[in-house]
This record gives sequence, structure tokens and C-alpha cells, in this order.
Amino acid sequence: MAHYIIVGTAGIGGALAAKLRASGHDLFLINRTREHVEDLARDLDVRFSIADVMVPEQLKVAIGLAGPIVDGLAYCVGTINLKPLMRITADDVRRDFEINSVGAFTAVQAAVPALKASIQTTASVLLFSTVAVQQGFAGHVSVAMAKGAVEGLTRALAAELAPKIRVNALAPSLTQTPLSEPLTRNPTTAQALAALHPLQRLGNAIDVAGLAAFMLGNDADWITGQVISVDGGRGALRSKA
Ligand SMILES: NC(=O)c1ccc[n+]([C@@H]2O[C@H](COP(=O)([O-])OP(=O)(O)OC[C@H]3O[C@@H](n4cnc5c(N)ncnc54)[C@H](OP(=O)(O)O)[C@@H]3O)[C@@H](O)[C@H]2O)c1
Repeated sequence: MAHYIIVGTAGIGGALAAKLRASGHDLFLINRTREHVEDLARDLDVRFSIADVMVPEQLKVAIGLAGPIVDGLAYCVGTINLKPLMRITADDVRRDFEINSVGAFTAVQAAVPALKASIQTTASVLLFSTVAVQQGFAGHVSVAMAKGAVEGLTRALAAELAPKIRVNALAPSLTQTPLSEPLTRNPTTAQALAALHPLQRLGNAIDVAGLAAFMLGNDADWITGQVISVDGGRGALRSKA
């Protein structure tokens, strides 16, 4: 049994929590909104804490509450703020950077002593990027900047924290979660967006949680510094000429 911290529990983080718990692991959940974590923590019989990642001290305190020995950290917090260049503001960009990138940095920094204390062969960190970093999409300036930094952070940390701590990231395409709900709530729009994927559907939290659980666990013991796409083929393939 391993002991994992999951930050951000509304969508993919929640599915990951359920999957890890079903495999018998112990969890400590951290989320901003109590309603998005309380029921989940009760159902899974795990501990939780509330923190806004925009307030680094809150996040550090919450991570400390997980205990002195931690085997893995998944930072599943994110934003999707899609606006054309001339409508996005510097404040939007700063906020997205704080939540996606600085928050990930703070979480890892706070968790490193406990991760180093893990008795597993390796401890692991899992961060989240997006398909919109390796491929350019109109209207994605802010999220691409913020998640591009997460990809840089992933590789830099993987180099610095080896050999004890592995650091990887997943890069999903549009996945049906509370975060993406404003983009997918209209069925016609959702269908049009699904059709852009070679596998002809949008992702769901379970699609991503499966790989996330694998990357955190011992079966991925020789994988570090990677950004792995979970995107229905959107990032790499063109299924129509
Ligand atoms: N869904 C997609 O289409 C998609 C695509 C590409 C990448 N991703 C990435 O995948 C990861 C998981 O995404 P998801 O869709 O599963 O997200 P989600 O869980 O549905 O929602 C985002 C999570 O981030 C938390 N959060 C946002 N701002 C926060 C803050 N200031 N402090 C603390 N927590 C905060 C939210 O907390 P609350 O409960 O308070 O709202 C929520 O738990 C994210 O990094 C996301 O960027 C998602």
C-alpha cells in the first residue's frame, strides 16, 4: 500500500482517487472547494484538507498535513481560460500561471521531504499539461503558456530529483470534467469537438485516471521526465486527409 497526495479533486483527480483507493492505497486529498472533496473523502474513507493554490502558505500547510512519509503527489489543479489574444488580459495570464504552474512548483517543493522519506524504490510526482502545448490552438494563449511552463517544470524537476523521485506529466485533450463543462455542455458543440479527435469522442476522467494511476505506481518505476499524451489521437494524428 502506498500513500498518495492528490491536489484538485473535482474531475480527473477524483477519478484518480477512486482508482487508487480501489487498489488499496491510502490518500490525502486537497481541494479549494469543500463540496468537491468532502463527500468523496467520506466515500473513500480518506483524510482531506482545504487549500487555495493561489495562497502558497495554505497549500504548504495542507501538504504538511499529509504526514512525514508520502509515496506520490498528483497535482490535478487546472484552468481552461480560452480567449483570443486581443481579449485576454495580463491578469488572466498571471492567474493561469499561478494556478497551473506556480501551484505545481509550490506543491512539489512542499512535498519533497516527505517524498524523499518514501520507502518505495522511487516516489513519484505527476503533473498535468494539455494537448494545446505541443500543438498550437487559436484562443489558447494563456493555458498554453501556463502548461508550457508545467512541461518545463516536469523535465527540470525530473533531472533534479532523480534518482529517488520520478516526475512526469500527462497532456490530455478535451476531457469531460467540471473544468471543461462550459465547453461541452452544448451537445452540438460537444459532438463537433469530439469529431476533431481521431478516436471520435471526448475523453472522460476515467480515461485519464488509468494512466495517472500507472504513472504514480511502481510499474512505472523506470519512467521519468516524460510528458505523455492522453488525447484520443488529437495531438499526433490526422485521420482525414
Ligand atoms: N478537462 C480537460 O479538458 C483538460 C484538458 C487538458 C488538461 N487538463 C488538466 O487536467 C488536470 C485535471 O483537470 P480536470 O478537468 O479534472 O479539472 P477539475 O478537477 O474538473 O477542475 C479543476 C480542479 O482544480 C481545482 N482548482 C482550480 N483552481 C484552484 C485553486 N485556486 N486552488 C485550489 N484548487 C483549484 C478545482 O477546485 P474546485 O473544486 O474548487 O473547483 C478542481 O478540483 C488539470 O491540471 C487540467 O488543467 C484538463
